[in-house]
Amino acid sequence: MLIAGNWKMFRGPDPASLAGLDAVICPPFTRLRDCVAAGLTTYAQNVHWEPEGAYTGEISAPLLLELGVAGSLVGHSERRQYFGETDETVAKRTRAALDAGLRVIACVGETPEERERGETEDVLRRQLSVLEPHDDLVLAYEPVWAIGTGLTATPETAQETHAFIKSLLDVPVLYGGSVKADNAAGLFAQADVDGALVGGASLDVDSFRAICETAARIPS
Ligand code: 13P
Repeated sequence: MLIAGNWKMFRGPDPASLAGLDAVICPPFTRLRDCVAAGLTTYAQNVHWEPEGAYTGEISAPLLLELGVAGSLVGHSERRQYFGETDETVAKRTRAALDAGLRVIACVGETPEERERGETEDVLRRQLSVLEPHDDLVLAYEPVWAIGTGLTATPETAQETHAFIKSLLDVPVLYGGSVKADNAAGLFAQADVDGALVGGASLDVDSFRAICETAARIPS
């Protein structure tokens, strides 16, 4: 089980309060150094495909590695929705990050409109078509309708979708979208749910710790 906390554009808790936790932390850029210093497995929330260059506002894999950062999220739905991220740029970011030696959590998932139109599998097929299996690649299935809404995919829906994803790309798949301490056990009990990418609940130390403890009780 892999549990990752995505702090998004929130300052987040004191990294020292998470010391010893078996989890990945994805803080905003300004807190990467503090998370690394606290001994946490620290991932960025985004990474560019070029090692350096005139790309204002972006960050490269070598610059992250220099800081002790171990990996990066790529293609989060908020990047796709608000910042023009496409399947092509997700592929470029993922490939460059893996080649440079970063681990990657690549995010996929359908919007509410796509789900209502019955397009979930087509969307996932398209999003996954640009990615290739790699030992350091993990996927996160984050249905957009479940992010920050309090709506979670049922454990059965998560299982069914994760199995579909793995039939296309055989790597571990995390579930993301309103994962909380009280719904984590049901999700983690599913055979193809390999962990969670936690947003809101990762900002609260007690909630995040409870989710990590639930994951630790699942036999591997
Ligand atoms: P929430 O857990 O706040 O729904 O966010 C999920 C998410 O987007 C994690 O990357």
